[in-house]
Amino acid sequence: MSYNTFGRVFRFTTWGESHGPALGAVVDGCPPGIALSEADIQPWLDRRRPGQSRFTTQRREPDQVRILSGVFEGRTTGTPISLMIENVDQRSKDYSEVALAYRPGHADYAYDAKYGFRDYRGGGRSSARETAARVAAGAVARLVVPQVRVRAWVEAIGGDAVDPATFDDAAIDANPFFCPDPTAAARWEEKVDAARKAGSSLGAVVVCEATGVPAGWGAPLYAKLDSELAAACMSINAVKGVEIGDGFAAAALSGEQNADAMRPGADGPAFLANHAGGIAGGIATGQPIRVRVAFKPTSSILTPVPTVTREGSATEIATKGRHDPCVGIRGVPVVEAMVALVLADQALLHRAQCG
Ligand SMILES: Cc1cc2nc3c(=O)[nH]c(=O)nc-3n(C[C@H](O)[C@H](O)[C@H](O)COP(=O)(O)O)c2cc1C
Repeated sequence: MSYNTFGRVFRFTTWGESHGPALGAVVDGCPPGIALSEADIQPWLDRRRPGQSRFTTQRREPDQVRILSGVFEGRTTGTPISLMIENVDQRSKDYSEVALAYRPGHADYAYDAKYGFRDYRGGGRSSARETAARVAAGAVARLVVPQVRVRAWVEAIGGDAVDPATFDDAAIDANPFFCPDPTAAARWEEKVDAARKAGSSLGAVVVCEATGVPAGWGAPLYAKLDSELAAACMSINAVKGVEIGDGFAAAALSGEQNADAMRPGADGPAFLANHAGGIAGGIATGQPIRVRVAFKPTSSILTPVPTVTREGSATEIATKGRHDPCVGIRGVPVVEAMVALVLADQALLHRAQCG
């Protein structure tokens, strides 16, 4: 009943809180014999690490991962892989006001309503520190499906989108926004700076594409690949929308506009478009899988917002402490991890049923 586990065959469980001594993931169901060391995981964690630019939270966490189990002589043994990341830069006193009053838009009130008791330090379990554990687990998932490339980027910040015509894959890791368009990245510097200085925050859209997924992965109906991906991405903190392929825009198209027309190709059908985002009937078509994810603006902001105290009296809250001015930026490696985790699971499920 506690829902800290995701996946069917390739499963992972995350544990830990923002200001506890450590957090981590237990990955279960990983096939044996896969070469795995901390060096395979660390580069992905480094992409998510806080404090790397003025456009993210200034919390300084090295996010060094340790593998505690499930690996022997450099290879997975098929037993649970336990991954641990220590928290070293907690400042719990920054959260004294959060102990007394609820941040609108954050999980404070909802956690109190459900559990009647909450670890308010840094948001406790609702903090996106937890997503470091997902990224670590996602790095293992990538090794299960080495033929798949999972790549995400930020498409828009605060409603200001990249120009798709200038998409440059090499630019994504060359600026602090995971932005594929250097011109947009320059605009976003000013935009995010202005929001931060104003004590405000901005939302973002992240796009993720998985290439190399063979036709056939996925399942019909109750575990459609679409719904698995949507559940995975919706489970990320601050995500409020997920689209597969053209998503909501498909509802404005006619049948012939939306059709991914086919022609005979060298190796199965050649598709002339990809409105479906690489999935039909819940099953991969072999086209790139495309997911769009909407991140809301950070709720912890310095601008005072009307709220209530735990006792129910009216007050205002201005959230101090160190926060991401736009959580969607550091959401990029998290979206990639969740997509990789779903695809590793689907690869094993497909093998189990279809050989
Ligand atoms: C990478 C990442 C970093 C985040 N950083 C912050 C932050 O610094 N401050 C904050 O208030 N929320 C932050 N969030 C969002 C909260 O964790 C989230 O809004 C909160 O748990 C409530 O959950 P919900 O927005 O999914 O309803 C972050 C989310 C992600 C994905």
